[in-house]
Amino acid sequence: MRVDVITIFPEYLTPLREALLGKAIDKGLLELGVHDLRRWTYDVHKAVDDSPFGGGPGMVMKPQVWGEALDEVCAGDTPRLIVPTPAGRPFTQAMATELAQERRLVFACGRYEGIDQRVIDDAATRMPVDEVSIGDYVLVGGEVAVLTIVEAVVRLLPGVLGNPASHQQDSFSDGLLEGPSYTRPVVWRDRAVPDVLRSGNHAAIARWRRDQALERTFHRRPDLLEALPDSALDKHDRKL
Ligand code: ADE
Repeated sequence: MRVDVITIFPEYLTPLREALLGKAIDKGLLELGVHDLRRWTYDVHKAVDDSPFGGGPGMVMKPQVWGEALDEVCAGDTPRLIVPTPAGRPFTQAMATELAQERRLVFACGRYEGIDQRVIDDAATRMPVDEVSIGDYVLVGGEVAVLTIVEAVVRLLPGVLGNPASHQQDSFSDGLLEGPSYTRPVVWRDRAVPDVLRSGNHAAIARWRRDQALERTFHRRPDLLEALPDSALDKHDRKL
């Protein structure tokens, strides 16, 4: 997969070259380009923003600068453009799975009050565009959202995780939160690991894990349980 990020703070994206993502780059599974938006400014102040039409606080990012940046970064190609914004569609594990199928993603990081809407509308005539939010809170800009989205997507690419089975047990993969995990020692600060996990009874362990996931989801995310189709529950699932 190729990922390009356009931002006024390229250094903000350096963690994309660390840890698991850095390894994905080394293995040739991920190609990353980070571009400084100010490269496409021509005035002495390298201005990327201006005051909003209609008044109000904050500044809006200028369409000319973004237009040229996207023209050049996307030249001769049709990537999927992702614009992080608190006004976007919610980013979910399902969306991460969908984005992991793409050959190329381009991220446009807005700051201030966002990017002039015409940039997004114009790009959408040439490529698929998604305005995406990582949660119901407001960040200063899209950069941290890009870190989040790229990490969630790249770990799903074949060959990136050491154990390909690990994301089949992720929270959300079956619509439930993942239950608790334990490792050695068996007793720590008078707290013992649940006996069933040491029983060697694989059916009992699977049942226990499923019950824990259901219970945790019931308490922490009742909305997820509510959204689960009846077909996703088996006949042994306890009604909570
Ligand atoms: N930019 C600012 N806040 C954001 C959010 N919650 N999600 C995505 N991008 C953002």
